[in-house]
Amino acid sequence: MANVLVTQCTAGWRLIDHHIARLLALALASLAYLSGTAYSTNLFIADYSGFVTTAALTSTCGGYSLEKTFTTNQCAPNPSWLTADLDRGLLYCLNEGLNTVNGSLSSFTVNTDGSLKLVQDTKSINGPVSGALYGSASGPRGIALAHYGGSAVSTWVLKNNGAFTLNQHFDYTLSHPGAVPDRQDAPHEHEAIVDPTGQYILVPDLGADLIRVFSYDQKTLKLKTLDPLKVKPGTGPRHAAFWQPTSSGKTYFYLVAELAATVTGYSVEYLSNGKGLNFTQIYSSPTYGDKLKQPPGNAPAEITVSPDNRFIVISNRNDTYFTLPNGKKSDSISTFQFQNDGKLSFVQLAPAGGSFPRHFSINKACDLIVIGLQNDNNVVVMQRAIDTGLIGNTVASLGVSGNPTCVIFDEK
Ligand SMILES: *[C@@H]1O[C@H](CO)[C@@H](O)[C@H](O)[C@H]1NC(C)=O
Ligand SMILES: *[C@@H]1O[C@H](CO)[C@@H](O)[C@H](O)[C@H]1NC(C)=O
Ligand SMILES: *[C@@H]1O[C@H](CO)[C@@H](O)[C@H](O)[C@H]1NC(C)=O
Repeated sequence: MANVLVTQCTAGWRLIDHHIARLLALALASLAYLSGTAYSTNLFIADYSGFVTTAALTSTCGGYSLEKTFTTNQCAPNPSWLTADLDRGLLYCLNEGLNTVNGSLSSFTVNTDGSLKLVQDTKSINGPVSGALYGSASGPRGIALAHYGGSAVSTWVLKNNGAFTLNQHFDYTLSHPGAVPDRQDAPHEHEAIVDPTGQYILVPDLGADLIRVFSYDQKTLKLKTLDPLKVKPGTGPRHAAFWQPTSSGKTYFYLVAELAATVTGYSVEYLSNGKGLNFTQIYSSPTYGDKLKQPPGNAPAEITVSPDNRFIVISNRNDTYFTLPNGKKSDSISTFQFQNDGKLSFVQLAPAGGSFPRHFSINKACDLIVIGLQNDNNVVVMQRAIDTGLIGNTVASLGVSGNPTCVIFDEK
């Protein structure tokens, strides 16, 4: 078996220095001999039908396989988001509560085989759709939740064993609907994000056209409201990501607006004495970049900086730009590269592999992207070129029982 693997693998390595290739082949052969695989990791998948699934993604030289190994309904009825705290071996799951008065927060310990054991499941304000861990690694830690349906932000104090208690909540209202009344009938908190210094929590509000900004007390973990970032009425801020260039001390913030289908970049200045953040817009374009014509109806969802800190990747929903080999329409994934000045340069529009790529993740090695296709009840894994950021072929896929809302790698 190991010999076969080495033969298949070395064929592609002729371009590399002969000695390196031999060493690599030897290393891989021993790895493959010991484990039977060349790469193996787990994925955690949340889907709206009530399940959280663990799936094993394994590769041998030639191919990948993705197989369900564990399922739980202990975050039911409508899992919408997963936040991993893998240093502590914990996974938090949010249930949005699409047809119930309340949502819920549940916590699990992650076993070595990727299976999950419930620690706690507690009702929350309705509609949690995103959670972010905050606090210090050694001291008190909390999770901040964005409640889309419940128009709120809530915070919870976390214990090391996965137990948690409600800390506080902020409930928001709008005095009148926003510029897009059917989507901006009320505040809709869509994501919780922590800034790179860990001092601030940011919450894009799709209904109120705001990015809410909070500082917090290190001991009590209670949030304090600071000046928000206001965006153009009707743009519908949804998700965002920070970027710090490795070489300079600068900080940038990139916001995806769902209703305007734009990505906007800001340079971020830290005000003295924890007084907040000052944003200066430096870039804005459709999530399609500046070269392609964006179809009407595009509703971008997720934005992520690749783990190598070089690219920013955005999912586009409902754009149906591509037709797959099987004849079905596919939405898309946009890749941009950071410029030194924080502006973005468009790299690629790639097929997402199906309909409504609500969430996706890139692995630590940056050679794979996993995409949850909400309308297809399907999760796909695609190859990604580390140097260029180009997304390539689909190498594995897995059907799930409901609309996938969140897909993450079990990687520290
Ligand atoms: C459940 O929802 C109701 C109605 O919004 C709210 O008043 C209540 O506080 C929620 N319960 C919890 C535990 O958050
Ligand atoms: C924020 O930055 C702008 C320049 O972009 C500056 O004019 C303004 O004074 C700054 N605000 C604060 C509160 O520092
Ligand atoms: C998808 O786009 C079409 C326009 O192409 C629009 O009419 C429709 O409302 C959009 N659907 C969603 C769910 O955004």
